[in-house]
Amino acid sequence: MLTDTLDHLNQTMEAQLLRDEHPDDFPYLPPVPSSRYTDAGFAKLEHDGLWMKTWLLAGHVSELPGPGSYFLFQQLGQSVIISRGKDGTIRAFHNSCRHRGSALLLEPRGKAMRFVCPYHAWGYSLEGDLKSVPDQHDFACLDKAENGLKPVRCEVERGMIYINFDENAGPLSAFMASQAPQKVGYPLENMAVKVNMLVEMDCNWKLAYHNFLEIYHVATVHPKSLAPFLDSKSFVVALFENGHMRFATRKKKGSTIFEADLYKPEDVADIFNQVTVALPTFPNQFYALDPGGFNLQTFWPAGPDKSIMEVRMMGWDVDSDADRAHWESMKGIVRNILSEDLCLFASIQRSLEQGIIPEIRLGYQERALYWFEEEIDRRIGTVPEAHRVAPMLGRYREA
Ligand code: FES
Ligand SMILES: [Fe+2]
Repeated sequence: MLTDTLDHLNQTMEAQLLRDEHPDDFPYLPPVPSSRYTDAGFAKLEHDGLWMKTWLLAGHVSELPGPGSYFLFQQLGQSVIISRGKDGTIRAFHNSCRHRGSALLLEPRGKAMRFVCPYHAWGYSLEGDLKSVPDQHDFACLDKAENGLKPVRCEVERGMIYINFDENAGPLSAFMASQAPQKVGYPLENMAVKVNMLVEMDCNWKLAYHNFLEIYHVATVHPKSLAPFLDSKSFVVALFENGHMRFATRKKKGSTIFEADLYKPEDVADIFNQVTVALPTFPNQFYALDPGGFNLQTFWPAGPDKSIMEVRMMGWDVDSDADRAHWESMKGIVRNILSEDLCLFASIQRSLEQGIIPEIRLGYQERALYWFEEEIDRRIGTVPEAHRVAPMLGRYREA
């Protein structure tokens, strides 16, 4: 259950609806340098300080239905096998053979009870142990026990599978603790991925993610598709430790685009029926806990000016013709809504890259974007002044 009661959320959303002045007690947000979205040096700082050190969403447990099922995490120039062992445990390994480095698995998802290298057929168990080497006598000093697959940290929270490239990172539970209470009462672990989509975008990953951190654009960009469902002016934001957040917005019609007369679990807390609650999760995840299901979106860099959005459409784990038909139609609806957003992103990148817009400006309704940018700098540590954002919002962080 949310830490805020429904009454409290209703009061704060109501106050937003009536507000027509900048809140007195909230600071003016300094402009954010455009170089954060164009500069290769800053992208490298992010790679080293953020992507290689933070817990990253790789997928959902429903994508690994039984022992031996696997999928590959292939963002950030990496290839990582995420696989379910015979004991049910989910593990992650670099997809690199210890012989001469070939990828072991080439298909992005499937089932393999053993990982056999397609080059010279070295074979590894689901636990990552090197089990078989053809003509092993020709490798005089090979110690099989020392040549297992290189593991990647992997932990599961509420059905979501996370990996971390930093062996010394703290536990996932500590990283997520500030936001975790917000999803109690929503049975995430009982869901299934209904649709997978990958979208390539001609913009920096942060510019694409920004779009999902505010609903200031909804009235203009989505007048027919989303605006009829969301009371944009009621938008309230809670800032949490580690860059996580919670958004709450009033449902205009008492429903959302995802709601269908299909199966809904009884254990979804009522607050999720009453209010649209979204949980931006640092560094690159966005989803809204709708009782009918939701889009689980992640945003990844593919160079300073290119990015990839992964969309997993999450629904309840039922198998029926009606359910399949619902998600087929949702796929079309979601594609249309996303294309309304996406058509502007390349123009933003161009304006920043050409130096026409040397800095971007964020208003009060866009404070979540600023909190996200601040957290990136905290992760990196020392950011050159030209790219830096001044820390402003720490005192608004919820305990
Ligand atoms: S590279 Fe894998 S067996 Fe040779
Ligand atoms: Fe949008």
